[in-house]
Amino acid sequence: MKGVILAGGKGTRLYPLTKATNKHLLPVGREPMVFHPIRQMVGAGIDDILVVTSVDHMGEMVNCLGSGVDLGCSLTYKVQDGALGIANALSLAEGFAAKGPICVILGDNIFQRSIAPIAASFRGQDKGARVVLKSVHDPERYGVAALDEQHIIEIEEKPKAPKTSFAVVGLYFYDDQVFDIIRGIVPSARGEYEITSVNNEYIARHQLRYDVYDGEWTDAGTFESLQEANRLLHATSNEIAP
Ligand code: DAU
Repeated sequence: MKGVILAGGKGTRLYPLTKATNKHLLPVGREPMVFHPIRQMVGAGIDDILVVTSVDHMGEMVNCLGSGVDLGCSLTYKVQDGALGIANALSLAEGFAAKGPICVILGDNIFQRSIAPIAASFRGQDKGARVVLKSVHDPERYGVAALDEQHIIEIEEKPKAPKTSFAVVGLYFYDDQVFDIIRGIVPSARGEYEITSVNNEYIARHQLRYDVYDGEWTDAGTFESLQEANRLLHATSNEIAP
């Protein structure tokens, strides 16, 4: 399985920290933020990784990460021209994926414990997609899953009145249907190609499985969550617990 790290977007919620650099190069604990999703993938046996970022910061990203050899992986890079949404950024990975399964991590997501067990569950799944849920106190900031006894029945992106407290975190596993699905979605009211639209299509096909994450998790896209990300990784000197 190959990996895709999405590190585009504008990072406007962290302005002026992101005026001169990319959000994913800001320090979290002792390392640039983007090291974390790479270390998570390598720890899950995924060492062929595509990094998607914006044209403004591609030079800095390559300067920071190089070939990937210091992190134990091989890196490929793709430019996303505009911040057209997470599903748009993912569409750039089609050639790289070469019809194989992929693990996708949003570059601003920090996971206290290893994602390896979740990757192992997806490897045991014959087809479809797998997402990861975490109960949070502020679900309206995220994609939110509604569940019946066994399945996710719907995901709503940033709902004003969330049906549950289960956020869909920025870690996704997809089979090769994902790129056809992206071609079929339309932009949301905020003008973005949403990853939630992709996941809802897998629900419609009865092919979306999920895990509930049992470690601490945060994004790092706001000042508050960036501080929480720093707290999590500073405590372990950026080591990831099993
Ligand atoms: O963190 C989990 C949440 O991430 C999910 O629960 C939501 O369903 C999902 O939409 C996303 O929500 P955010 O509003 O927090 O996403 P944001 O715009 O901050 O983008 C997250 C990362 O995705 C960002 O660090 C870089 C990447 N990205 C984003 C956009 C909009 C791209 O690579 N290209 C883009 O155009």
